[in-house]
Amino acid sequence: MEQKIQITGKKFPQLSYVKTGSGPAIILLHGFPESGSLWRYVWPQLSENFTVIVPDLPGSGDASFNGDSLSIEQLAESVKQVVDNEGISEMIMVGHSMGGYVALAFADLYGNSLKGLSLVHSTAAADNDEKKEARRKSIALIEKGGKDAFIRQMVPALFSKAFKEGKPDVLEQEIERGLQLDGKSMVAFYNAMINRPARITTLEKASYPIQWIFGEEDTIVPPEKVMQQSTLADVNFVSVYSGCAHMSMLEDPERLADDLNDFGGYCFKFNR
Ligand code: MLT
Repeated sequence: MEQKIQITGKKFPQLSYVKTGSGPAIILLHGFPESGSLWRYVWPQLSENFTVIVPDLPGSGDASFNGDSLSIEQLAESVKQVVDNEGISEMIMVGHSMGGYVALAFADLYGNSLKGLSLVHSTAAADNDEKKEARRKSIALIEKGGKDAFIRQMVPALFSKAFKEGKPDVLEQEIERGLQLDGKSMVAFYNAMINRPARITTLEKASYPIQWIFGEEDTIVPPEKVMQQSTLADVNFVSVYSGCAHMSMLEDPERLADDLNDFGGYCFKFNR
């Protein structure tokens, strides 16, 4: 049975997360412009084997932040408050795209508590200059009141052509969800991503297995640009999903749930 839990964060007015299942802990972090509900087609299968915790990152869903700015490290601290609230001391951290940047920051801060790290369409590289410039243009557009136009143009680019043609209703739902994000949060997330450091060394020194999920048609995190990172840790699980772009939790949720279940099972036996 799913529970929606809300707490007051130390530095956040409200933190919010879904808890379901029982067993060892697996934490699912969403990307931009999403909320925890992004994982709704994946958590039922995982909950058969794990305690699944799915936070809304502050600024999305039912979680909020003070002031105007955020950093990826602050978002990692908000995740730490959620896991502490549940008394969880060891876990697998799964991050989708921006959620992966948060998972890597969490690994830097609290790596000893990780049994595994799963990066779903994500990267440990920082933004290059071109990406930073593109984000700054988007920030300018949002600040000029173009938030909805930005979301309507951005969200379809996350999916494969076949998915958009075959499931226009799901695409429309995701656009609607994106539209719920307010402009202040969007700008804060984009600035947090611009300012994040590279975390390649986090991969190199990982004492736990790392899983990589790539979408063959992903233009946001193109597999050919990131694949080399999947050789840096001692133990790597790598899957490339054909017919899938940046959103496997919606484009191919059964496969992703199977892969996360397999990875989770492996990690909790690893080093025991
Ligand atoms: C995401 O899916 O979280 C974003 O596309 C990540 C990014 O823009 O780097």
